Amino acid sequence: MRIESSGQVEHVGAVRVHPVRRMLELDSGARVPSRVKESVEPQRIERDVIAGIHQKMAIVLPIKDEDVKVFEGVLSGIPHDCLMIVMSNSRRGEVDNLKREQETLERFCVATKRDAIIVHQKDPRLAEALADCGYGRILDETSLVRSGKAEGMIIGILLAEVLGKDYVGFIDTDNYIPGAVWEYAQHYAVGFSLSQSPYVMARLLWRYKPKISGKLYFKKWGRVSEITNKYVNHFISTKGNFETDIIRTANAGEHAMSLQLAKKLTYATGYGVETQELMSIFEQFSGLGPVADRTIMEKGVDIIQTETINPHVHEEKGEEHLLQDMLVPSLSVIYHNPLCEQATRELITRQLVDLECIPRDGEVPELLILPPPETVDAGRFAGLVDRQLSEYAVPKGAAVRASLPAAVRRAQEAARLVFTDLDGTLLHPVSYSYAAALDSVRALQEANIPIVFCSAKTRAEQQVYRQELGIADPFVIENGAAVVVPKDYFRFSFSYSRTADDCFVIEIGSPYAEVKSKLKELCARPELQITCFGDLTTEEVSKVTGLNLVMAALAKQREYTETVTIEGDKKRVQATLAAIKEVGLGYTFGGKFYEVCLGADKGKAVKILMELFKLNSGDVYTIGIGDSLNDVEMLNAVDLPIIVQTVNKNWNKVNVKNLKRVTGIGPEGWARAASAVLAGSEQKK
Ligand code: GDP
Ligand code: CO
Repeated sequence: MRIESSGQVEHVGAVRVHPVRRMLELDSGARVPSRVKESVEPQRIERDVIAGIHQKMAIVLPIKDEDVKVFEGVLSGIPHDCLMIVMSNSRRGEVDNLKREQETLERFCVATKRDAIIVHQKDPRLAEALADCGYGRILDETSLVRSGKAEGMIIGILLAEVLGKDYVGFIDTDNYIPGAVWEYAQHYAVGFSLSQSPYVMARLLWRYKPKISGKLYFKKWGRVSEITNKYVNHFISTKGNFETDIIRTANAGEHAMSLQLAKKLTYATGYGVETQELMSIFEQFSGLGPVADRTIMEKGVDIIQTETINPHVHEEKGEEHLLQDMLVPSLSVIYHNPLCEQATRELITRQLVDLECIPRDGEVPELLILPPPETVDAGRFAGLVDRQLSEYAVPKGAAVRASLPAAVRRAQEAARLVFTDLDGTLLHPVSYSYAAALDSVRALQEANIPIVFCSAKTRAEQQVYRQELGIADPFVIENGAAVVVPKDYFRFSFSYSRTADDCFVIEIGSPYAEVKSKLKELCARPELQITCFGDLTTEEVSKVTGLNLVMAALAKQREYTETVTIEGDKKRVQATLAAIKEVGLGYTFGGKFYEVCLGADKGKAVKILMELFKLNSGDVYTIGIGDSLNDVEMLNAVDLPIIVQTVNKNWNKVNVKNLKRVTGIGPEGWARAASAVLAGSEQKK
């Protein structure tokens, strides 16, 4: 997709409100973009970034007695990778609408090979589980969940969390245009990818909301919406010295949030829910009221508004519904917000009186506000609903299981990050075997600790080990010449130099051809005895390295650096190295060979990745494991540098602060280092 470049972001304390951005292209192609970061130009968001987010997103579909044909159309517009959670409050009994919805969903899921969940809001076991977990306020006097779309949404949020999702989006089921539904889900992912914070809300605005009166008339959307925006903006304006009209989506039904944010908000019952979400963000995170949560204050909350291309055509419930059911609740939550100024309150009262929504001397009714979903004991709730999930699952028997709450997972994921060298460290210096470290690799994976290779090896060589070990984390190739990130790994877009296979490549060093041409000059000088791997046959490389033929061939697939051997006595070698420097090249010594580069930098590569991980999951604690001099830059960049023993059972002399030396050659030492990392994470919790 391609979205219009951003205007001025407005700050309300820690809340960043982004002005509405228009979608320019629903599909921006698969071309490799230019090297420059697209910051001022319209911004292009990669298909893979969107797909990666969709895999972590649940779409909650509230439904109450809608036409199943329309419902079916909505389903067909939900991107394949999103998990659908249908929250129904439809009529049951003789005419069983729920049953028809279940059948429609079942047919759709079987045909499209998808899983989904459908739950009736009035399921007594759901009510029981909620009461049991401390969320009894969502029940009515019959001890069932209260009616209303808002209640359905909250349950959707809780289920999305139990099912291990990171994002939740809402899409009404009375939408006549499947293409619009599809577009909404794209916007949600785009919104998340544009955010700098894990606390993010994406809200949609449509330019046209056609009315059907004789002929199709494209009316600029909504009076209710205009009025609500006006008072939310008034609310914000009274907090500073500048008038603003930044909020244009105050009651956008179509919106999405990261679960981390969704769990913190308070929810109004009825149609005030969307406005209340906004008000709850301002109340808690603007800094105007008491500070609710320090980490959120630091990271900030992003409110991203985007304008859709497809028109919004849905079931219209009449003018009366609009005013009484929608406008009154929307204005009520602004009015009753503890931070609302008297001036704004007076204007709201006058507005409602003028529209004859309340009597002349009447009060603005107050809505019931439900506490944040995080007050629900998530582990307990997961345990209770896990038994019923198989019953809610569509198709029948689909393996939909409760998993660790996303936040718990994330805390573990974010806690630690391991950077490791390969040759002589994870791989034995002589046999190249990682066998002694295999159990430890698995233990780290189980604990969700990413393992980032940082080695002199080529991309092709590292891919082999990544595949064998099932490691899907980013990696640093050819001694810091480039950082390689699988396309769906991070949720946001970042600048990169090119794509290769299914990865983004961030280049730090110059391409191989440049390095090679400079080396050529040196090779021509008879007093210097340099042999480049690139000039050897695969057999020869295999012979000098001890690599088998397959690996030797992959080692020759160099993209940035050249591996060389230097013949001669110490003096000769020194002179050769000096000559390498003279032509502007750099080198590192990996124990056997010299790695010659132009601008590669392991330390820089590690730092770039650390920044990306921080953006993705908050603070990280980094561990580096290496064995030799060429790991120094990496070791100096991490919080906990660890070095393993060489083949002679001692440690290379390296100049690194707070260095921890573990016993064990290569992978044996690696295993010890990994246990230290795991023990540390236990302490930290
Ligand atoms: P509008 O489209 O915003 O004017 O409001 P609608 O009345 O059309 O409702 C929006 C969506 O919520 C539709 O998909 C409805 O089917 C659904 N909905 C309405 N009431 C309820 C309810 O009590 N529970 C659930 N789960 N969904 C509801
Ligand atoms: Co509707």
